[in-house]
Amino acid sequence: MSRLTVGLMSGTSADGVTAALVQVGAREVRVRRFATYAYPPALKRLVLAAPELRAPELSRLNFALGEEFARAARRISRGTRPAAIGSHGQTVWHGPDASPPNTLQIGEPAVIAERTGLPVVADFRPRDMAAGGQGAPLIPAFDLFLFGRGPLRAVVNIGGIANASLTGRGRLFSAFDAGPGNALMDEAVRRATRGRAELDRGGRLAASGRPDESLLRRLLAHPYFKAAPPKSLDRSAFGPALLDRAYPRLDARRLPDALATLAELTARALWFAVLENAPGPLAEVVVSGGGAFNAHLMRRLAALFAPVPVSDSAAHGMPVMAKEAAGFAWMASRALDSQPNHAPAATGARGARVLGKIVPA
Ligand SMILES: Nc1ncnc2c1ncn2[C@@H]1O[C@H](COP(=O)(O)OP(=O)(O)O)[C@@H](O)[C@H]1O
Ligand SMILES: [Mg+2]
Repeated sequence: MSRLTVGLMSGTSADGVTAALVQVGAREVRVRRFATYAYPPALKRLVLAAPELRAPELSRLNFALGEEFARAARRISRGTRPAAIGSHGQTVWHGPDASPPNTLQIGEPAVIAERTGLPVVADFRPRDMAAGGQGAPLIPAFDLFLFGRGPLRAVVNIGGIANASLTGRGRLFSAFDAGPGNALMDEAVRRATRGRAELDRGGRLAASGRPDESLLRRLLAHPYFKAAPPKSLDRSAFGPALLDRAYPRLDARRLPDALATLAELTARALWFAVLENAPGPLAEVVVSGGGAFNAHLMRRLAALFAPVPVSDSAAHGMPVMAKEAAGFAWMASRALDSQPNHAPAATGARGARVLGKIVPA
């Protein structure tokens, strides 16, 4: 059976909500269209500050995001009649190593269901965590679905943080958050420009700077990089606190070198984690997520992984910005069929579960 499903993804970059309209079949998915709807600036600032909010503001933000997600779902499905919506929600806290382990994604699914008239599957991570998993990464199950039948590949997503799945030959070998992604570079840009710019478009500033090797050595000594999977990261792990320490006085003049260093940190951490965990020679590294638009980062990855080719997921029919949203459409569709929709090997969960809470239409 095939189901037209909307997937909504709002990652740790807090750039907005990416919506994908996806035909989900038993053996393949087809992205019919997708778009990223940027958060209004005030909402973006609230999302970035969410871990510091008090209950009344957090509760309000949950409903405000629900409205935002509902609008995105309606816009992407205009003129069609999807059967369901899968919504990841906006992570405001992820504490897999706390006692008890806990995680919080918001963007009220009841609001999405009410505004769209469609069943919504949301809040996927808690069930995995309740079953002893890290609640992350969830996309590896989708990576296995997309690429598992091919040769051994590293399937990488560079969003707010960077993660990788090692899959092929019918198996998912391992999957993990590798380290920093765009969130760290975005934060450096926002600080140095006092909020006038949000990102280093194309990686042009990073390309004009020089990485600081001694700082890189210190940053790469972070214990996270040596830990074995399963492991997952919160944006705060490689975020503002790291920048406070590494660049206490970041300004426009220092920005290119800082970005060159942070891009290099991102590339080397990813390269190291992939090589460390690959069960054999890789046929290809496939990149998705907004980081694929950072040409400097992509060149650095290509240089590090050579002679293994580095491509982007669009070359495999999956637009780079649509992959995670499509993954949550796929997960929602599986949940509606009571089919397991995560990879316990990736999260550390005790066994296969059906993740997600279903809000009826
Ligand atoms: N043209 C571009 N050049 C450089 N970086 C980009 C570009 N477009 C997007 N990005 C980066 O990608 C990020 C968004 O990526 P995304 O995959 O949506 O991450 P998340 O899943 O965390 O929301 C932006 O915050 C930005 O850092
Ligand atoms: Mg995003």
